[in-house]
Amino acid sequence: MPAARQDSVRDTTGGDLGIRRATESDLSAILRLYGQSGMNDARVLTVEAAGPIFRRMAMYPDYGLFVCTTGDSVVGTFALLIMDNLAHLGAPSAVIEDVCVDEGNRRKGIGRAMMRFAMDTATARGCYKLTLSSNIARAGAHAFYAALGFEQHGVSFRVSLGEPAAPAETNARGR
Ligand SMILES: CC(C)(COP(=O)(O)OP(=O)(O)OC[C@H]1O[C@@H](n2cnc3c(N)ncnc32)[C@H](O)[C@@H]1OP(=O)(O)O)[C@@H](O)C(=O)NCCC(=O)NCCS
Repeated sequence: MPAARQDSVRDTTGGDLGIRRATESDLSAILRLYGQSGMNDARVLTVEAAGPIFRRMAMYPDYGLFVCTTGDSVVGTFALLIMDNLAHLGAPSAVIEDVCVDEGNRRKGIGRAMMRFAMDTATARGCYKLTLSSNIARAGAHAFYAALGFEQHGVSFRVSLGEPAAPAETNARGR
């Protein structure tokens, strides 16, 4: 996926909405979104702790962290993985993670624009499917994905692997 590509999408915020690859200077804004309602219980990394992880993610060949912007403001984010497969006759598949829209800008079409971008990217890359998983308690998010044409498919399993070593975190309202 190209770096820092800017794509125009349907804009219902009244601003100049765009979607591009995130850069390290976006981390503070992205972490602020992760601390908002519906995300990680306001538990987020510090910018300092996020930096090395972001740089490691950037080394993956097809794993992109994206931001949606209006003017200079980051109003949404998601991550998109294009995963190679040897099954399915070699067709890749795509996985969306960490979808979040700024809580002051929800229900303006930003999430829809981001998912449309992800679907278009995955289609252009020849993916045979695009998937995501969502906590069963997220009724609003499920209505969102259903409105965009996502269908519930199969059953998702997980096994908890215990608490990871405590990372540096902030309460997301300030560093
Ligand atoms: C879920 C989320 C990404 C949706 O983003 P958004 O920009 O508000 O969504 P959109 O405005 O593009 O909504 C598109 C359509 O989805 C549906 N929709 C969106 N949010 C909804 C909600 N909370 N309840 C019911 N339907 C919803 C509506 O049909 C909406 O169209 P409409 O506003 O014209 O009726 C956003 O609410 C969010 O960041 N939530 C917290 C984090 C989260 O749950 N992320 C998903 C993790 S799996």
